Amino acid sequence: DGVTIVTHPLVQHKLTLMRDKARSTKGFRQLLNEIGMLLCYEVTRDLPLEQVEIETPLGAMTAPVIAGKKLVFAPILRAGVGFLDGMLSLVPAARVAHIGLYRDPETLTAVEYYFKAPSDLAERLVVVMDPMLATANSAVAAIDRLKEHGARDIRFVCLLAAPEGVRKLRAAHPDVHIWTASVDSHLNDHGYIVPGLGDAGDRMYG
Ligand code: PRP
Repeated sequence: DGVTIVTHPLVQHKLTLMRDKARSTKGFRQLLNEIGMLLCYEVTRDLPLEQVEIETPLGAMTAPVIAGKKLVFAPILRAGVGFLDGMLSLVPAARVAHIGLYRDPETLTAVEYYFKAPSDLAERLVVVMDPMLATANSAVAAIDRLKEHGARDIRFVCLLAAPEGVRKLRAAHPDVHIWTASVDSHLNDHGYIVPGLGDAGDRMYG
């Protein structure tokens, strides 16, 4: 149904450590980086391979390399940046699109303050990343803008989602598959995921 829950024990363990309100800024940031790597592994799991001829020191062989589109990582600022280093450590040649959005605290609508993407979005697989999928207003706005700029093949990766946000993102962009480590209970009146982990941007950056 367009959603993959990443149940890998390392991801689940690290997520629990991040939820703990006693976790330090340093620990929180490091864990998000580590989970970024693990989620990158999952989101790239089905990339197509092709066979190429290579020479090992002992002779010729055909061996697989990734054949599909090159990647663009698209973190939603600020919290999405917490995933970026982990993702780039596994796919160092990926390009990066920066999308600056904040949620208006009253209306919970996403307000854009920055957008800068590589020019060849149409030829690439775009992985949009944000630790939190709450109302999904930010994710929907980010993906709207990426599509305006030509992106056609898009995936969304988060750490935590609310059921409301999953429904809204799936409805607005049914072509975008979602990877998340957890779908939590619900959103509270302020648009925070419950039980969640608080405000990811604040916990990472202050
Ligand atoms: C938070 C979070 C997501 C967004 C999720 O960002 O980091 O980007 O809200 O909520 P939504 O699904 O309801 O749109 P925030 O606006 O607090 O900005 P920040 O990351 O810069 O702190």
